[in-house]
Amino acid sequence: MRTSRNSTPGSINSKVPGQKLLEVKGLTKVFTKGQGLVKSTILAVNNVSFSLQRDRAEIFTVAGESGSGKSTVAKLILGFEIPTAGQILYKGQELSTLRGKKQFMQDVQPVFQNPFETFNPLKKVESYFLETEKNFARPGAAKKCLELVGLSMDEIGGKYPSEMSGGQLQRASIARALITNPSLLIVDEPVSMIDASLRMSVINLFKKFQEEQGVSILYITHDLATAYYVSDRIAIMLRGQIVEIGSVKKVLDEPLHPYTQLLKSSVPVPDPAEKWTSDIALSDMEAKEYVQKGCKFAGRCPHVKELCRIREPDYYEVDGRSVKCYIYEKGWDQSA
Ligand SMILES: Nc1ncnc2c1ncn2[C@@H]1O[C@H](COP(=O)(O)OP(=O)(O)O)[C@@H](O)[C@H]1O
Ligand SMILES: [Mg+2]
Repeated sequence: MRTSRNSTPGSINSKVPGQKLLEVKGLTKVFTKGQGLVKSTILAVNNVSFSLQRDRAEIFTVAGESGSGKSTVAKLILGFEIPTAGQILYKGQELSTLRGKKQFMQDVQPVFQNPFETFNPLKKVESYFLETEKNFARPGAAKKCLELVGLSMDEIGGKYPSEMSGGQLQRASIARALITNPSLLIVDEPVSMIDASLRMSVINLFKKFQEEQGVSILYITHDLATAYYVSDRIAIMLRGQIVEIGSVKKVLDEPLHPYTQLLKSSVPVPDPAEKWTSDIALSDMEAKEYVQKGCKFAGRCPHVKELCRIREPDYYEVDGRSVKCYIYEKGWDQSA
């Protein structure tokens, strides 16, 4: 189904050797909450950097507890929020020059958590397909994309969102995201609202798109089990920061950051059917950790030392990944 893209110089489809599909550098977003004296600011995304390669489609997971800043990262990349600082490059071009442009909006497609919010309850589901096809794609694209997710025009024909099951509607929203032949899907908690028995079939769709259609996927989830199953690389987020990033096998089989170790101990990897619902993200603790100086995990870390509470650690390159923890600094004496 995938058609070749024309390579007009300066278009996002002209390839430069070694260029990344997506490059996020020092991404930062500050939100202000409340008003007047109760006004507070929160660093929802704090100096986040990662990239997706362009040479080969990959599935990259951003994982973390609820409130760690994952959805904000997605919104910044989609251009729904404006960064406070940092840079986002898509196919080598500054996002600020692409935001709202038709070519970018076709090439980077979102899939959200709740399919009932994606579709207007008063509009027939098929109309989204017909409109998107008419405006952005070749004739027959909608039919093909529905087939890819195991649906047909007949199944959605004449139906309103309320007349379809959550699982069916999420498949429809994924099919719709594919009509424009995107290079990148940004998928935010796509299975947390659908029936447990259907989750893996949706997750498998993403794997199929990557392998058969060459679509790259930024998979955002709090569910480490599906992340382990589906992704190539993973970034673990804590209070707006990435604390560990690397191949999903390395990071989840032998986590190095004490926070990743805690997460792993509360998740039944590798059984992807089990959902991880570690809501240790208490709102009080959340607020405290966001403003905490030094390492955000210091208050919960079994290995904490004084320096951890004072100065934020850098990233250390260990065993093929980056870890934001002093333990991996050369000469660090854990017993001292
Ligand atoms: N529009 C907003 N205004 C103020 N605070 C926000 C806004 N969006 C998100 N936040 C805050 O930013 C933090 C990260 O939120 P979010 O990115 O939704 O996390 P996640 O997707 O990991 O659950 C949370 O504390 C949340 O309350
Ligand atoms: Mg979220």
